[in-house]
Amino acid sequence: MSESGFHYRNGIFHADAVDLNDVAQEYGTPSYVYSAGMIRDNIARLRTALGPDVLIAYACKANTNRAVLSIMASEGLGADVVSGGELRRAIAAGIPAEKIVFSGVGKTDGELRLAFDHDIAQINIESAAELERIVALNPARPVRVGFRLNPDVEANTHAKISTGHGESKFGMPSAEIRQLYKEIARYPMIRPTGISTHIGSQLTELEAYRDAFHALAALAGEVEVESLDFGGGLGIVYTDEQPVDVAGYAQLVHDILTPLGKKLTTEPGRYLVGNAGVLLARVIDMKKTPGKPILILDAGMNDLMRPAMYDAIHVMNPVTMNQNNDIICDVAGPVCESSDIFLRGWTMAEPARGDVMALMNAGAYGFSMAGTYNSRPLPAEILVDGDRHAVIRTRQDMDDIVKGETVPGWLG
Ligand code: LLP
Repeated sequence: MSESGFHYRNGIFHADAVDLNDVAQEYGTPSYVYSAGMIRDNIARLRTALGPDVLIAYACKANTNRAVLSIMASEGLGADVVSGGELRRAIAAGIPAEKIVFSGVGKTDGELRLAFDHDIAQINIESAAELERIVALNPARPVRVGFRLNPDVEANTHAKISTGHGESKFGMPSAEIRQLYKEIARYPMIRPTGISTHIGSQLTELEAYRDAFHALAALAGEVEVESLDFGGGLGIVYTDEQPVDVAGYAQLVHDILTPLGKKLTTEPGRYLVGNAGVLLARVIDMKKTPGKPILILDAGMNDLMRPAMYDAIHVMNPVTMNQNNDIICDVAGPVCESSDIFLRGWTMAEPARGDVMALMNAGAYGFSMAGTYNSRPLPAEILVDGDRHAVIRTRQDMDDIVKGETVPGWLG
């Protein structure tokens, strides 16, 4: 039996049964590597806790690779999408339209029409203005809409990924939803089927969920809907966080939401894929400085933006363990930005040029947020499943990067 996930075997870091040095050798670096087994384990854990009656609509934005989406489809999951592009990807991967919800604060008319055409489960609307546009688009068949509630709760997470407080751009206060609900009765083609909420991401404490669920339940007592979508946000362990109490989370759902007798949907992203991916990078150089040495990797902030953007910490494991003395270094990428630093004051056995490193917990919001800044091609993505491995997205080359650029004739 092979172990699923990331672990050392005889001093070599593996994904499932696959040696990550071999992966780096065969596919190059930087590359994202995902463990299919871990994704399935994450789904199973959450599903066991929540029970079969809660629809798990995977928040695609965390990792939109088609192979990853097809795992979600074959596990029977739905999807939470936030753009026409994500909607198309979810459908193409085989996720049934009746399990797709569409969230997001700025859906264009074209994206709304696409959602009408696919007759998806629900469009979670964010404002009276958005409702007005849906009405004006004159859908040919009834459209199911959910109202996104802003429950005005403070989630204890990084300010840039907190969404449920009163000042955030997301959702509407309950008073506004009650008003809109009355108005909607005038439009036969709009069916107010649900209420949704999402208070933030990387949540590891249950307090804010409790408050949000109570707000959802209170509103559900005032407007008649069939379904409640309680958002995503379950956190994972990056460093020394307390692992989120999934059983406690499920208990809150069962205590506060289940008794209301509605269809329930949750939208987890990170929890399903975050710990199931690493970013493999090679050491380009060890730069000596008057201060700490700087370990320079061939992966940069364009490949994994989370440290630069949210001060996130992705711990690093050498793929080959060595017996060298420990050093304390900063770990940086090659991008010409001071914020292109993965780790500060990192202690590790001194590596050599060319060694392969794995930046951990990079399966969510890693590749999906990557860009080509500094004209750096997007990295490859590899899926490991037991002892099998395959490229699920080839590394970009320079032609991909400049594709679509043209020089106007008058410039000669
Ligand atoms: N539902 C909605 C409406 C959302 O906006 C999000 C995430 C989710 C579900 C899924 O949240 P999750 O379960 O993954 O926490 N780029 C940031 C995270 C941004 C989250 C945006 N919305 C990061 O790398 O930490």
